[in-house]
Amino acid sequence: MSRITITKPDDWHIHLRDGAMLERTVNDVAAWANRAVVMPNLTPPVKTLEDALAYRDRIMSALKTDSGNSEFEALMTLYLTDATSPEIIEAAAASPFVCGVKLYPAGATTNSAAGVTGLEALKPTLAAMEACDLPLLVHGEVTDHDIDIFDREAVFIERTLAPLVDEFPKLRVVLEHITTKDSVDFVTSARNGVAATITPQHLLFDRNDMLVGGIRPHLFCLPILKRRLHKEALRAAAVSGNPKFFLGTDSAPHTVETKEAPCGCAGCYTAHAAMPFYAEVFEEEAALDKLEDFASHFGPDFYGKPRNTEYITLVKEEQLSPMSLSFGESTVTPLRAGETLAWRVETAG
Ligand code: DOR
Ligand code: ZN
Repeated sequence: MSRITITKPDDWHIHLRDGAMLERTVNDVAAWANRAVVMPNLTPPVKTLEDALAYRDRIMSALKTDSGNSEFEALMTLYLTDATSPEIIEAAAASPFVCGVKLYPAGATTNSAAGVTGLEALKPTLAAMEACDLPLLVHGEVTDHDIDIFDREAVFIERTLAPLVDEFPKLRVVLEHITTKDSVDFVTSARNGVAATITPQHLLFDRNDMLVGGIRPHLFCLPILKRRLHKEALRAAAVSGNPKFFLGTDSAPHTVETKEAPCGCAGCYTAHAAMPFYAEVFEEEAALDKLEDFASHFGPDFYGKPRNTEYITLVKEEQLSPMSLSFGESTVTPLRAGETLAWRVETAG
């Protein structure tokens, strides 16, 4: 198959950043996705409905409506802190522009210092989310210093996520950017209302790709790439046709100088070529017929939103991925910079 037309996808997890970065991030995703769930980890974070609506305005102003992107919709999220009250949740849930609340364990990743230090005191807030049917989006890693970085996702499931899903049986939960077989198994056997997003980098690479023969900072993201058996479990989940697994790129730009540094930032930029990346994986798995469900059907079904009515066409035609992308004053090295990609988006509309 050298050409495939599918319902236009959505990105159920992305970092658009703010200010000068918005011009590229917003238009790169809007070129292939109709909707994107926008992460709230700005500095300062997006903590209230008011913050989310102001950020949404900045995003929509950056959209170039003359390039076929005019349908694009930013679905906003709030950043859960120890101070998020049930009232904040109720106000957000009443807005058509907010689709979830993001849980970052404090210190887990980029701009997570204001994250949650413990869930016990947040039970009334979680109960409000359950009552309002506002989904909880989870960065699933413990942050304890004595837990190895490669084990942090699995330990989070056992200590935090499994009890939470039981205690709030109607709360919809998305375990974001899963990286392990443990997460695939947990989500597969969890009750209805528990789902997961999967990124291109976790389907394409394992930790050997990042660390053997030299350290490759542009493959460093959180949760970190794991050993190959986990990548294989993620690939199997993505192509399985199980509606609990759907597309979320976690595209997260950091400038080249903050990635190529003694203490480099976590995040991979993929918004410019996400569909070529996913198409390559699905083709390798002989499952191109499952791409549309993963990219375009299961996400809106989970969030209770209509499926898109537009289409995109992907063609199997080699293209060179750029070495770097300009971002205002600086540049970002995207995932697989300078490599040849097998697929490209031909038309979107
Ligand atoms: O690698 C990551 N980068 N993981 C995250 O959870 C956050 C993201 C970012 O904002 O840069
Ligand atoms: Zn993210």
